[in-house]
Amino acid sequence: MSKSYKIAVIGGDGTGPEVVREGVKVLKAAAAKFGFKLDLTDFDFGGARYLRTGEVLPATAVEDLRKFNAIYLGAIGHPDVKPGILEKGILLKLRFDLDQYINLRPVKLYPGVECPLKNKGPADIDYVVVRENTGDMYTGAGGFTMKDTPHEVAVQAAVYSRFQVDRALRFAFELARARGKKRTLALCGKTNVLTFVYDLWDRAFHEMGARDFPDIKREYYHVDATCMWMIKNPEWFDVIVTGNLFGDIITDLAAMTQGGMGIAAGGNLNPAPGGVSMFEPIGGSAPKYTGQNVINPLAAICAGMMMLDQLGEKAAAAAIEKSVMELTAHKLKSIAAGRMGYSTTQVGDLVAESL
Ligand code: IPM
Ligand code: MN
Repeated sequence: MSKSYKIAVIGGDGTGPEVVREGVKVLKAAAAKFGFKLDLTDFDFGGARYLRTGEVLPATAVEDLRKFNAIYLGAIGHPDVKPGILEKGILLKLRFDLDQYINLRPVKLYPGVECPLKNKGPADIDYVVVRENTGDMYTGAGGFTMKDTPHEVAVQAAVYSRFQVDRALRFAFELARARGKKRTLALCGKTNVLTFVYDLWDRAFHEMGARDFPDIKREYYHVDATCMWMIKNPEWFDVIVTGNLFGDIITDLAAMTQGGMGIAAGGNLNPAPGGVSMFEPIGGSAPKYTGQNVINPLAAICAGMMMLDQLGEKAAAAAIEKSVMELTAHKLKSIAAGRMGYSTTQVGDLVAESL
């Protein structure tokens, strides 16, 4: 009997539904070719639903989503909703409540994709950022005192437990081993200023590395220097591990070096047995391109590829990547929305057909 996967599909806001539609097209083609089944269920979570109902997420949403093997997400963010409401109420809530403690961001420059770095090509840009996804300044620890007075104070604390740090580090070490490339793990921190939080990271990093991963070389970079080397010498990196906030920042920088938001995908992983992970293009809802059939769906297609890889459908994932690479190398004029030489739906068709 062929395997069957229950996938929750959240198209979300803006161009999210358009790119997810193409991703689903490719996933279905892969399922047919590689002999597995997909049982897809749509959810209407996002800004439009919030504006209509006043409710960010229905009370049963998290429990409902736990019943799926994975979540495939388009984009969350609406120009008519105050910043923070949808991000915290949907995206971050799902990451936290489903304990998706790893944010995995492959940074790979595909052939034919224009790179803003001079003299760098696909051989130079091929690494993965492991961003811790549940702690740091994202926990909401903090608050205001004397709000709306001249003496107002705001505190937002970077919070990390040893447990959170250890599980993120272990994932990253294991990934460096599994990739089998440079067998190097770089910790990105700020031990010269954040002498508590990144001291904890640094000690945990070297203790675990020396004890359990002697075959993996350890490197350390401050976050500011990491940004510098990601531009100057991206070929140095294999796997980078870092906290939630630095990870958020450096992965947008990394995305630009791999061709931009049209191609960059990420996974919010709960690697535990039975854990529900969520896969998304990282580009956001792009309101100005909504409904025009010009946005690039490759990032969403690559998110779908990551989802299949995580579900264990390795051959299907590899085939999707191959098709995407053929397209970037030989067909697409550009990665940018509106300049691809094809529409959103045509790009989806091309990938699905070439499978
Ligand atoms: C990301 C996004 C989110 C984050 C926002 C939308 C809350 O920027 O996935 O990187 O900061 O994590
Ligand atoms: Mn971000």
